[in-house]
Amino acid sequence: MVVAQRWYQEAVVYCVDASSFQDSDGDGCGDLPGLISRLDYLSRLGVSCLWLNPIHPSPWRDDGYDVSDYYNVHPRLGSLGDFVELTRQARERGIRVVIDLVVNHTSDQHPWFQDARRCADSPYRDWYVWSAKEPADRRQGIVFPGEQKETWTFDERARAWYFHRFYDFQPDLNWANPDVRREISKVMGFWLQLGVSGFRVDAAPFVLEQVSADVDPGPLDFSILDSWRQETQWQLGDAVLMCEANVDPSSVGQYVASRSDGPADRSHLLFDFVLNPRMWLALARQDSEPMIEALGNPVVLPEGGEWATFLRNHDELDLSRLTDEQRRDVFHAFAPRPQMQLYGRGVRRRLAPMLGGDRRRMELAYALQFSMPGTPVVRYGEEIGMGETLTLPGRDAIRTPMQWDDTRNAGFSDAEPEQLIRPVPRTGRYGASKVNVRAQQRDPDSFLRWFENLCHVLREAPEIGTGHCTVIQTPLPRAVLAHRMDAPAGSILLLHNLGPDSAVVDIGPQKGCTSAPYDLLVDGPYDQPTRQLRGLELHGYGYRWIRLRRADRL
Ligand code: NOJ
Repeated sequence: MVVAQRWYQEAVVYCVDASSFQDSDGDGCGDLPGLISRLDYLSRLGVSCLWLNPIHPSPWRDDGYDVSDYYNVHPRLGSLGDFVELTRQARERGIRVVIDLVVNHTSDQHPWFQDARRCADSPYRDWYVWSAKEPADRRQGIVFPGEQKETWTFDERARAWYFHRFYDFQPDLNWANPDVRREISKVMGFWLQLGVSGFRVDAAPFVLEQVSADVDPGPLDFSILDSWRQETQWQLGDAVLMCEANVDPSSVGQYVASRSDGPADRSHLLFDFVLNPRMWLALARQDSEPMIEALGNPVVLPEGGEWATFLRNHDELDLSRLTDEQRRDVFHAFAPRPQMQLYGRGVRRRLAPMLGGDRRRMELAYALQFSMPGTPVVRYGEEIGMGETLTLPGRDAIRTPMQWDDTRNAGFSDAEPEQLIRPVPRTGRYGASKVNVRAQQRDPDSFLRWFENLCHVLREAPEIGTGHCTVIQTPLPRAVLAHRMDAPAGSILLLHNLGPDSAVVDIGPQKGCTSAPYDLLVDGPYDQPTRQLRGLELHGYGYRWIRLRRADRL
């Protein structure tokens, strides 16, 4: 076995919202003991890192992304003791835990903000961003159009305007204040001591930007990221920062390294907001061109930096990086009804229903994601093909509880159905009576079993996480994407057919290919590939990962 030099380059990350995963005490809300009881399930699935959506005390007006105490666990989720037990038990199964670090803003209920608004000489006043006068630009820079009207709100108590990039109940912390920096460093040290392996940095660009009245966007202060990296690594050598930075491709590199020609010394992982909409566009058009373009002109991250790839996450699928025409095509294919769309730019659906529940296309989509350079991140419930509940408001549509079995609350909770944190969809094509873990565990051909295999194959294929990607330039049908990944560990050829028609492709001899290339992951029975790599069959929506060479074996 090749030992991973950097664990995050060979990980499969599973994003879980503890409140929606497993309730252990019957109060209708998932919790940490519930999550612990499902670690064996996650272990078998093959995930190696859990990313927990916010677990801190919070009024939960933005699903926990409005923290009111950074040093605790929300009482409905459990205790600090439960958290340590989670990291310990996860570690015993080779699973790391990363938590959301939500420090662009706090909840307006946080004692710091409550004190800050009390009077101008509160020691916490300068922990937030204020303006005595009404900022002229207070209706600009809105992130949630339709739900949010302004970015500066007048606070009656403080007799001043405060800045909030997101909702008005999420006042921005003032990162120009050294006390704020010191305090958040302590917060990070605290959770590292409790066993986390790093942080998913929420809204990273907004943390760095130094906004003041009428100066928005403000300048970015990357020294914040520099010091997080240094302090985190000093305390725990292999801890990672996984940044959410949905910024222009020309500036992503700065989130990874301080020098354009230097190694990664800022974040280790960056969510790939460049590739994500291109994958959806390619799937919508059944055309490999958007992928060829993205992979052919990649944004190259500094050495040691890695993409975190994803298809769906806990937010809307953000299509704002596409042109109007491209966005229209994706909406048309995957979210044709207005109620499936959000903020005019996004899709509030889960993957399975977006792909019409078509097993072949679901496999294709995940095979494609997992074949991309980077570390795949998947969200709970995707591995069984859960759906959304469009009658729920906004992003809640895709945040319904995990569907474990076909009992009353899908095995999520023993509470009365009306007491659940969010309703469990019971009926319909994606309801728990049809889509659930237990049924799929009993079926060797289920999507869950297929997904487990996908995770395990990836762990056998370190080339994908650590290697160099090249698009194969041979003329191929438009629907077929062919690329290869090369690393010291070996080389893999990856073929994906985005269209419904079967194809036979000639790749031709490939550098470094041994005399006996073999299929690692395929959608169906195919003839063995030969060294010439000609006449390779692909079913409609088919995929083949073919190992060309493995360094430590012939
Ligand atoms: C990004 C998170 O992914 C999203 O869910 C949240 O609403 C905003 N940040 C604000 O924290």
